[in-house]
Amino acid sequence: MEQSYIIPKVSLVGAGPGSIDLITIRGLRAIQQADAILYDALVDKKILDEAKANIPKIYVGKRCGKHYKDQDQINRLLVETAFSYGHVVRLKGGDPFVFGRATEEIQHMESFGIPVTVVPGVTSAISVPASQGIPLTQRDVSSSFWVMTATKKDGSFSEDLTHAAKSSATLVILMGVRKISEIANTIRRYRGGLTPIALIQNGTLPSEVSFVSTLNGIHELTDTIDSSKPGVIVVGDVVAQHPSFFDDTVQRVLTSQF
Ligand SMILES: C[S@@+](CC[C@H](N)C(=O)[O-])C[C@H]1O[C@@H](n2cnc3c(N)ncnc32)[C@H](O)[C@@H]1O
Repeated sequence: MEQSYIIPKVSLVGAGPGSIDLITIRGLRAIQQADAILYDALVDKKILDEAKANIPKIYVGKRCGKHYKDQDQINRLLVETAFSYGHVVRLKGGDPFVFGRATEEIQHMESFGIPVTVVPGVTSAISVPASQGIPLTQRDVSSSFWVMTATKKDGSFSEDLTHAAKSSATLVILMGVRKISEIANTIRRYRGGLTPIALIQNGTLPSEVSFVSTLNGIHELTDTIDSSKPGVIVVGDVVAQHPSFFDDTVQRVLTSQF
């Protein structure tokens, strides 16, 4: 009788920013072929319907500092699942290499001799502003952008924000919703208070919301922002491309500064 062997392997797949039709075709194929899936919090569960019906689909996500499983547990589970089932798809929000701890997972798998393939994803850093019509570069307005997190591993405020604020680049800040006032205050030390700022939450999903203001005016909006929703903050003159930038509220803030 023919014996079948389990051959462990892992595909680290970027699921895109939220909307399930923003996954790549290669990512979708990996899901369809998977023998098990481990998925993160910011992944739309509807995408799991594309997978084989009888395979394990394990939630390992964390949100807003609430760890469902810590990184060591995820690493261990990935190894166990690959040896038990074969091809594991590790599904991550956005692109696996943008604040996704993908390198740690790759190194752990490889230390067990498990081959890992990375399937790039559409990062929220670029696609979420784009879904609101905000370009990150624009001829004669901004020729570069800087993607950063507001908070470092130890919880302290990232000094990259100061370095970036001193440049003329568009600033794209992930994981910063709770600190939006502090972020605006820091940038204001190096750029004018009338610099446009946008916050886009639940980007590319039907529940997407956006707030557009200036560094001076964003403080007036903080009470209306639900900080439990993931958000991308964009700072720079490119934000003036957003139709709301010319809304009455923003214009009131702008004209009151003169
Ligand atoms: C741990 S990082 C992972 C980023 C991801 N690897 C990527 O490339 O988009 C999670 C942060 O990404 C941002 N984010 C991810 N999806 C988002 C979405 N649909 N709308 C707004 N922000 C999002 C938020 O800043 C969130 O706190």
